Formats: sequence, structure tokens, C-alpha cells
Amino acid sequence: MTESAHTAQVAQAAFRAPLLTFNGDPAHAPNAVVFHEDGLLIVEDGRVVAADAYAALASRLAPGTQVVERRDKLIVPGFIDTHIHYPQTDMIASPAPGLLPWLDTYTFPTERRFADIAHARDTASFFLDELLACGTTTALVYCTVHKESADALFAESEARNLRMVAGKVLMDRHCPAFLRDTAQSGYDDSAKLIGRWHDRGRQMYALTPRFAPTSTEAQLEACGALARLHPDVFIQSHVAENTDEVKWVAELFPGHRSYLDIYDHYGLLRRRAVYGHCIYLDDEDRKRMAQTGALASHCPTSNLFLGSGLFDFDKADSAGMPIALATDVGGGTSFSMLQTMNEAHKVARLGGHHLTATRMFYLATAGAAEALDLGDKIGTLRDGSEADFVVLDPQATPLLARRTARRESLEELLFAFALLGDDRAVYETYAAGKCVHRRDDARRRVPGRAGAREDRGLTPASVETPQLQKKR
Ligand code: GUN
Ligand code: ZN
Repeated sequence: MTESAHTAQVAQAAFRAPLLTFNGDPAHAPNAVVFHEDGLLIVEDGRVVAADAYAALASRLAPGTQVVERRDKLIVPGFIDTHIHYPQTDMIASPAPGLLPWLDTYTFPTERRFADIAHARDTASFFLDELLACGTTTALVYCTVHKESADALFAESEARNLRMVAGKVLMDRHCPAFLRDTAQSGYDDSAKLIGRWHDRGRQMYALTPRFAPTSTEAQLEACGALARLHPDVFIQSHVAENTDEVKWVAELFPGHRSYLDIYDHYGLLRRRAVYGHCIYLDDEDRKRMAQTGALASHCPTSNLFLGSGLFDFDKADSAGMPIALATDVGGGTSFSMLQTMNEAHKVARLGGHHLTATRMFYLATAGAAEALDLGDKIGTLRDGSEADFVVLDPQATPLLARRTARRESLEELLFAFALLGDDRAVYETYAAGKCVHRRDDARRRVPGRAGAREDRGLTPASVETPQLQKKR
């Protein structure tokens, strides 16, 4: 059997490589890091059968199983991006003076196109391939207000057999009319999508109120009702990202102690509830996040790009809040979780905190899975886990090769990947045991014309009056 045919033709596949996985948070559990310099990973029917030192495991290989040699690489569990917007793929790197003008000028006109299912499928397909090229095998994905946009993402994810969490955005005010639902239609569409997609194969649904300013109280109430009806669906939203946004929310919801308290009031803080940014929280908010098990998604490339602010990693950590990393594309400037770690490290440094690469690899894999209540399915190389993993290449670039050749510890190797790595460092990505990206085979994809303004038939001035700026 050839190497490239290994997963397609036999039930069992084996990979000999350095293996890294975690059985806890390395910041709190001294034995949390599991590293085998010469390891063996055995995969069968899309799941991990065993991962251990080669010497300990070689005798368990089924007769005839070929061993794929990756001894010059590093295998880690697939990365988990806990907050990303697929419809914003074509508008990544769009300049604006902060969050609210960026939403008005670029985001809303771009999201308008997702009423067209063909455009949604095309973008979803590109988006998922881009995630896989970066080693991300699970993401929490915002769609647009159109239910078809969620159907498109799930259909493309199902076709690749990926574990994805996604939802149609709920937004019934303070946005252009072409992107508005109502409390009732948002409820009905979300309920239908849950019925159609939640726990169908590897797909999972997330109720997705965009953020408090774009939902009426009636919509938040309806969302809370759906959340109570479906305790195992996810919830995702934004909170406390930007100072202008925080001031606006205080005007819109004067009766609440804080921005986070609004979500709390409507029953939207719990396990499997994921909040992007969490920059301007106070100690009481942090305590509530920790008590309820809601997850903070730290999105450093977005926060730096939009000038939103610096996530206080130390305070969040000390409060016991669940924390994970996320790209927040298109506010974020990279699909790569390695580049996200790079910026997370620098943001933490500015706050006087040293965030190790080992911890960041944990946060991007087992830590995220655990915080999402998916630790039994993804995020590790544990026996029985879904076989989503990434083969990283320490020699991906001449600079990485030189630096990693001189590493003196695992931390130094991971730090080099985080600071110098990106999609080039991802040699292969596997989902449910199947190779879904191989760097050297991937043909250069020609960028579509989907983002061009002339294609959209829109000019900045022809769209409706910017809603967020008008309100402010
Ligand atoms: N707040 C509300 N919507 C968005 C969005 O699309 N991106 C970011 N970064 N923040 C938001
Ligand atoms: Zn976002």
C-alpha cells in the first residue's frame, strides 16, 4: 500500500511520529503534557485506537498495517477555533477606524450576499479548505442572518466529515433591513436548523445572537427560550469588545449591571455558551463566567487589528474563567491558530503575563474541547477520540528549520511553531482519520472574484445608511 492510500483502503492506519497531546491544563497539572519523541498513533474507522511510545505499541499493530513515517514532523490534535465568521472570508483585511464603522462599511454589505445559496456554498467550501490548510479541524462558526447560509456551511462540512459548530445569526434591529430577521422568524428558523443539523453526524448547532445591540429584548427572550428547550446546543455571541460598543450597550440596556449581565438575564450564560472578546469585563462578570462555565474566546489578531483592546489573560485565568483562542476572521487577520498564538503571547506579555507555547497549544486543542464540553470527542489523541489531527513540519521554512534545529526543549519547539509558523507549517491535516489536506499536493487556489464590489452591484454609498454609526 502506498502512503497516500493508507486511510482510504484499510480500516487501520498507523503513524510513527513525535506525538503531543494533553490530559489536563499544563498551567495547573504538572503531568498534563503527554509527549512521545518516538510515538505511534493507531487509527481505525475514524477514531484513535491508541497513541503511545512506538516501543510500547508496535506489537499491537494489526498484521499488514503499514506505518506512515512522519518521524521528522510533530503530530498534535487538530486545532479548535472557537470564534470565526465564514461570510467574512472575502473581506478579511478591510481597513476601518474601529469595530462599529467596520461593521457598517464592510461587514453588513458583505453578509448581504449570503441570501444567495450558491454564493454561500462557494464561500463555505473555500472557508473550510482554508481552515484545514491551517490545521483547524473544528470551529465555532457564525453564518449570516439567512438560514440558507447555515445550510450551506453544514452541507460543506458534512461533505468533508468535519466536526463543526455553527449557527444562523439572530439580528432584528440596528442593522440594514436586508439583514434583519424578527424575534419570531429568528426563533422559527433557528428551531428548524437545530432539527435539521444538530448532532447530524458531526454537525452541531449554535444559537447565534450577533451581539446585544442588534437584538431586541424580545429576540433575546426568544433565544433564551430556545436555549432552555435545547440544553445541549451551543450559544455564541460577542461581549465587551470595544469601548464605543460598551457605551452604546449601556444606553440601550440601562437596567443591567453590565454588558454580560444582559446575556445572563436571558439565560444565555452556561456550559457551551461562548463569548467572543471579553475585554471590558469586571471582576463580577469574570466570576459569573467562571460560575456558569461560559467560555471566553480570546481573539488577539482581531483585537489588535480593530484596536479593540487587550484581553486581560491574568485576570481571566485567576478568576477561573474557561478561556480558549480564536481567530475571529474577518476581524481577525489570519486563519492560522499558530499566528493566533503568536499574537496571544504578545498581548499577554503587554499585560505582564508570560503565556507559554505549551499552554497555548493546550488552549487550542484539549483546553478548547474541554471548555466546549466536547472533550470526549475531540482535542486529544486519547483512545476512542475522533481522529482529527495535524502533522506539523518543523522544517516548513528555512527559518523554522534553522530555529528548530537549535531547540533545547519541547517548549522551544512549540514556541517556534507559534511565533514563526502559519499554514506553511501544516504538512497534513486529518479529519476522522482521513487526510483532508496535504500541503504539498494542494494546488494554489485562484482567488474568486466574489469580493469585488462591482460583482456585488454595490458601492459603499448605494447600501443603506450605516445603521450603527447613525445610532451613535
Ligand atoms: N460584534 C458584532 N458583530 C461582530 C463581528 O462580525 N465581528 C466582530 N469582531 N465583532 C462583532
Ligand atoms: Zn466575531
